[in-house]
Amino acid sequence: MSYKTSPAIALRGIVIAFLIGLFVPMAAYGHWTLPPVAPPAEYGNLLINRTSEKNGVKPVTFSHWIHRQEATCRVCHFELEFSMKVNTTEITEKTNKAGLHCGAASCHDGKAAFGHDIPNCEKCHNGNISYGKEKFAEVAARLPKSNYGNKIDWARARNKRLILPLHFLTVKPSKDVKFTSKLKLDAEWPNVPPAVFPHKSHIQWLDCNNCHPDIFNIKKKTTKHFEMERMVKGEFCGVCHINVAFPLQDCGSCHPGMQSE
Ligand code: HEC
Ligand code: HEC
Ligand code: HEC
Ligand code: HEC
Ligand code: HEC
Repeated sequence: MSYKTSPAIALRGIVIAFLIGLFVPMAAYGHWTLPPVAPPAEYGNLLINRTSEKNGVKPVTFSHWIHRQEATCRVCHFELEFSMKVNTTEITEKTNKAGLHCGAASCHDGKAAFGHDIPNCEKCHNGNISYGKEKFAEVAARLPKSNYGNKIDWARARNKRLILPLHFLTVKPSKDVKFTSKLKLDAEWPNVPPAVFPHKSHIQWLDCNNCHPDIFNIKKKTTKHFEMERMVKGEFCGVCHINVAFPLQDCGSCHPGMQSE
């Protein structure tokens, strides 16, 4: 065995040095503080406690990775009107039992999934953010991998039909609004590789109304203050890409010309 550097390796070294040179200034852009990311089995898990403890029951665990296999964001965040901010939806024992929120038909109605009666209370009211964790490894092993968030490539899992989440309960998405254009969103800063926004991958999960007009204007490059500093605070892409969809740490998935952190 010779330890002399082969020309191929030397060339690779030069290429790597060049790439590092190129990407160091890029990393330096990240002077904003990225929100922390929960471990994979807890990413997207919430403790809902707007009124639970005040009314003598433990907070409710809600897991996005369990539920998004069964239903798309659209079903819950458009049809069932859950807000995309924890502890802001007025969910009560009464609304659930009346067939709203968690208790909607085809959901926790006692038929499709366990209902709102004893002994099921503690399946939801357990105050344990990692409830259901033991099932996570099996789900992650079955689905394509990624390096971020749940470490599951959900877009790919959906495209390859490895999961078939329900896309509507009662309100069908309109057939004539199928907007699949992929937008190139050039940054306002010089030398920043542009972000891309694929409508196609988003409308598989969401309704147009989830984003337009509240989060984004419906005309390219017209959303005001569309910048990373606001996203890390939970605005714009950060509405979803902090807690549920892959996190902001994955620069390269939105800016194809950039390396992820
Ligand atoms: C499928 C999940 C689920 C099940 C099962 C469930 N709950 Fe709840 N419950 C919720 C959610 C979500 C909230 C809203 C929590 C909050 O905002 O703090 C809630 C709220 C409550 C509240 C506080 C608000 C109010 O209505 O006063 C009480 C009390 C409550 N549930 C009791 C129960 C009891 C008792 C059972 C069993 C008979 C039960 N729940 C079963 C999900 C569930
Ligand atoms: C089965 C129903 C359901 C599905 C499916 C679902 N969510 Fe949620 N989501 C909820 C509930 C319930 C809450 C908490 C609402 C509250 O407490 O007011 C929530 C909260 C959120 C939050 C706020 C998190 C926080 O920390 O404040 C975001 C962001 C979110 N969801 C995004 C998504 C996205 C993106 C998808 C699709 C990939 C999705 N959700 C799918 C039910 C769902
Ligand atoms: C996940 C969020 C999201 C969803 C869902 C979404 N959009 Fe958009 N849309 C955007 C963003 C981001 C832009 C660019 C806004 C900007 O640059 O200011 C945009 C821009 C547009 C534009 C302007 C394009 C241009 O070239 O000027 C149209 C038209 C549009 N969307 C239609 C739709 C329709 C129709 C749907 C549903 C089928 C939809 N969008 C769903 C985020 C979304
Ligand atoms: C979820 C998608 C997404 C992720 C992930 C993401 N960005 Fe961005 N980024 C954008 C969008 C969209 C813009 C604004 C484009 C515009 O101005 O229209 C942007 C803009 C920028 C800008 C220009 C300055 C500014 O704030 O507008 C820089 C620099 C940047 N991103 C760096 C990063 C780095 C570094 C990471 C990883 C730590 C990252 N981005 C992760 C979507 C993303
Ligand atoms: C309302 C929620 C929501 C908003 C806002 C949102 N996304 Fe997403 N995005 C998703 C979901 C859900 C996925 C599916 C993958 C996942 O969950 O990780 C996704 C996937 C993606 C993908 C991967 C597509 C693929 O096919 O692999 C890109 C790129 C992306 N988003 C960019 C953006 C950018 C850029 C913005 C802001 C302009 C944005 N997203 C805003 C929810 C959202």
